[in-house]
Amino acid sequence: MCGIVGYVGKKQADSILIEGLKKLEYRGYDSSGIAIHNLSGIKIIKTNGRIKNLEQRISEKRIEGCLGIAHTRWATHGKPSDENSHPHSNKSSTIAVVHNGIIENYMELKEKLKEQGYEFISETDTEVVAHLLDLHYKGNIVDALIGTIKELKGSYALGVLCKDEPDKLISVRKDSPLIIGIGKEGNFIASDIPAVLEHTKDLYLLSDNEIAIITEQNIEIIDINKNKVDKEIFKVTWDLVSAEKAGYEHFMLKEIEEQPKVVKDTLYQRLKPDSNKINLDEINLDKEVLDKINKIYMVACGTAYNVVVVGKYLIERLARIPVVAEVASEFRYRDPIIDSDTLVIVISQSGETADTLAALRLAKEHGARTIGIVNVVGSTIARECDDIFYTLAGPEIAVASTKAYSAQLIAMYLVSCYIAMQKGYISDEEFTMFRNSLLNISDNIKQILKDENKIKEISNKYKECSNVFYIGRGLDYAVAKEGSLKLKEITYIHSEAYEAGELKHGPIALIHDNTLVVGIATDENLFEKTMNNLKEVKARGAKILAITILGKEEIMDVADDVIYLPKTEWIFTSILANIPQQLIAYYMSVLLGHDVDKPRNLAKSVTVE
Ligand code: AGP
Repeated sequence: MCGIVGYVGKKQADSILIEGLKKLEYRGYDSSGIAIHNLSGIKIIKTNGRIKNLEQRISEKRIEGCLGIAHTRWATHGKPSDENSHPHSNKSSTIAVVHNGIIENYMELKEKLKEQGYEFISETDTEVVAHLLDLHYKGNIVDALIGTIKELKGSYALGVLCKDEPDKLISVRKDSPLIIGIGKEGNFIASDIPAVLEHTKDLYLLSDNEIAIITEQNIEIIDINKNKVDKEIFKVTWDLVSAEKAGYEHFMLKEIEEQPKVVKDTLYQRLKPDSNKINLDEINLDKEVLDKINKIYMVACGTAYNVVVVGKYLIERLARIPVVAEVASEFRYRDPIIDSDTLVIVISQSGETADTLAALRLAKEHGARTIGIVNVVGSTIARECDDIFYTLAGPEIAVASTKAYSAQLIAMYLVSCYIAMQKGYISDEEFTMFRNSLLNISDNIKQILKDENKIKEISNKYKECSNVFYIGRGLDYAVAKEGSLKLKEITYIHSEAYEAGELKHGPIALIHDNTLVVGIATDENLFEKTMNNLKEVKARGAKILAITILGKEEIMDVADDVIYLPKTEWIFTSILANIPQQLIAYYMSVLLGHDVDKPRNLAKSVTVE
């Protein structure tokens, strides 16, 4: 959640660092700070609130210097405040540190340091790092850092300055992301790629327990035993524009509109119009491997978990292998039954979600084969899975996931069909239908996006609702879960997704006059059943917004408003049904005046428990 930027080079550091922090604002934060090393030592300015507060403070007292670190904090230990903001320093201000992650043993370290006379001014876990560095410093900051991290438990990405080593920017990571930017006029550290993109596309991707010793001219990477680590340069294919808004009012709308391209990009190289196979060479799931697999866990958080629910349906329906859909934060602590005959598929847009990473590591500890479906190339989860399927959604900046969700769905369809084909469950004729329908999804989405103004009007009509039900059956229920999450995330309207057939077992008691019910009825095989459920709630006063397919005009007998989807094979309509849901949530949020891209309380990448 926190954002780190560091710079050492020829230029004044303060403006470079501030601009870098701004590119990380999407990660969510509540305070920010900067430390600049200049000839007179290390100067720190930090403040609660938005980055503009920090800019104001810097404008009052500009600090000259070409070496610095900066930070945006998403509070975990200690309330948002000036004192709890980063950077933190030792008492003599000869060392400064910024941190992303959680030091799990900070209380015992704090007590140990207090016994040695150290005084603390903040409530944070990070401050123990500043004092430990002080304790271990005997003239070499790298040795001090190694001594420090040997005492730390938990997750950290650290940027460190030392007064007595005025040309060095030191960094290390464990479980929290950190990249090294190789620039022409200096070098960088950052929590995420957008922070350095305007300066360089050449990066080193630090792995756990690797330490980077960075000067204006040189970048040395060593391990905890001070052995040199050779790293390949990772070249970013994203340009800055693709990480900017490209003229849209919000990143979220830009990313919704990008989905036709994203779907095409994710399919590209894997499914061709004239090919009778799916190319998934990147994940080794051939028949020999699959015949050993007797159980599949699919594990994720949030929106990615809603894709897991779709994936469970697809794999069981097409490949006839049992699938357990798991929320990562539960999976990691419930001692699941895992062995070498288990396949664990983790899904994560950021590739840094702490709970999902922990679930992956648990699976690997127990010998499972692991596959990741991840959007951020080189992310920790991507690097630790046995095999990785990269969704090519590009940088997703808005906190509410949209295009990454659609890309993950495409991945699920490809993987599910691929597994089914390996097991001989898909005939040539069925594959042709599958291939042609999937390749047409991009155009189907374009068609739905043309209804944007109608969807905006519907959103305006229902934006004052206080409670909303999303209901559906089968894949429509899986989609309903995502529609409900989107609405909650950015409109702050309470919402629940429910299996349509389950309402009568209790929840229907909540339906009263004008309760909005969004009915997802795109599965032709279940249409009549869902229609009956909509009649049940209509009879109790509900307002109904239905999402269905062209040709099902009879739904107007019960619905107050209807959004029609282009016809496609029923098993693909879940991808399409989500597009209107995204737009409904987006326009309601805009019309309600909320911060669409950075909704309250949320972060883009939840890298702590
Ligand atoms: C989705 O809109 C949310 N921002 C959130 O639920 C997110 O999907 C979840 O935190 C998982 O993130 P990941 O895909 O990066 O692992």
